[in-house]
Amino acid sequence: MIYFDNAATTWPKPPEVMDAMRHCLEEAGANPGRSGHKLSLAAGKLVDNTRQAIADLCNISDPDRVIFTLNATDALNMAILGIVETGDHIITSSMEHNSVTRPLHCLGSKIEVTKIPCDRQGLINVEDLSKAIRHNTKAVVITHASNVTGTIMPIKEIGELVRDAGKIFIVDAAQTAGILDIDVEEMKIDLLAMPGHKGLMGPTGTGVLYVGERAAFLKPFRMGGTGSKSAVAGQPDVLPEKYESGTLNAVGIAGLGAGVDFIKRTGLQRIRGHENRLTRAFIEGASKIHGLKIFGPPNDEARAPVVSFLIEGKDTAALGGALDSWYDIACRAGLHCAPDAHKTLGTFETKLVRFSFSYFNKIEEVDYALKCLRDLKERDIPVVNGSGCSC
Ligand SMILES: Cc1ncc(COP(=O)(O)O)c(C=O)c1O
Repeated sequence: MIYFDNAATTWPKPPEVMDAMRHCLEEAGANPGRSGHKLSLAAGKLVDNTRQAIADLCNISDPDRVIFTLNATDALNMAILGIVETGDHIITSSMEHNSVTRPLHCLGSKIEVTKIPCDRQGLINVEDLSKAIRHNTKAVVITHASNVTGTIMPIKEIGELVRDAGKIFIVDAAQTAGILDIDVEEMKIDLLAMPGHKGLMGPTGTGVLYVGERAAFLKPFRMGGTGSKSAVAGQPDVLPEKYESGTLNAVGIAGLGAGVDFIKRTGLQRIRGHENRLTRAFIEGASKIHGLKIFGPPNDEARAPVVSFLIEGKDTAALGGALDSWYDIACRAGLHCAPDAHKTLGTFETKLVRFSFSYFNKIEEVDYALKCLRDLKERDIPVVNGSGCSC
């Protein structure tokens, strides 16, 4: 099989990830941070190692500010719902994932939301964002890169603007963690949400929220057992326990640590270089297919390794289904949990097919996929309701 659905979750994972998870189950299978016995301490050590590895990767000076979550959605819910109060104004963009738009939507008339319209390539205009900041603006929530077009947002520039205005900056790094350099200090990020299971190469069920000092007022999303300060009635105010109630996914976190180590060993530059080559080869080849339309920036440098497209006259869901069943190519067709992004691109009705690449994809796979698309363009593809598309 050719796996081009890495923006949903990366696959395969480096073998070390599986080894680390097995090791955790066999040698450190107790509850981390709960008991004083050797097995529990060993589990706690594995969790702390991953915390430190992530802190190092993103230039986070205090590893206790790295909070483990279930996924990026969980981290974004914690960040957004934990900072807003009635009467607040939040600024976001028209390219956001439902993990941002739905928590904001659920707050209804309690808050005001401004969605800055992005251009047809999915790029935000920083001046528009600057003009939208008001006295009651609490935060700016922006994706680092779109999961539909891969468009990379000018995060550093936005971070400076938001910091100067004295607001909170929340970044959704679902498509960039482990793919692009992220430095919370340089980018002036206050709350950073990352999935553990995409670019960071960990297993599903892992995610991270970085909580910066300026976001110290963030309310905990869930409360309960932390293994510390058990006699205290309220949620402890110490990090990371304040935001980590309940038993952690130690096995997953151990795997995530091995994923982050793999990235550091391989080097972000090398990973980015390879993924750019795949993206460039696909864009160059696909642009020559008559009737195939690619959305987003024309060059690979301006995007994460994500390319969405349609073929005129072909049903998107049917295309996704045929790629899977006829050619064994796994991709994602539909709205990609980002209806606003599709409205921005004008593809809400047609939807798009998305290819997303990882370090483990090969250039030969891109060549083969291009051959399949040329072939598909000439064929009748039956539309089967409910197949090929996840909307
Ligand atoms: C931009 C963006 N934000 C958030 C998410 C949610 O990530 P998760 O699947 O880890 O909850 C995704 C998932 O694809 C995404 O692409």
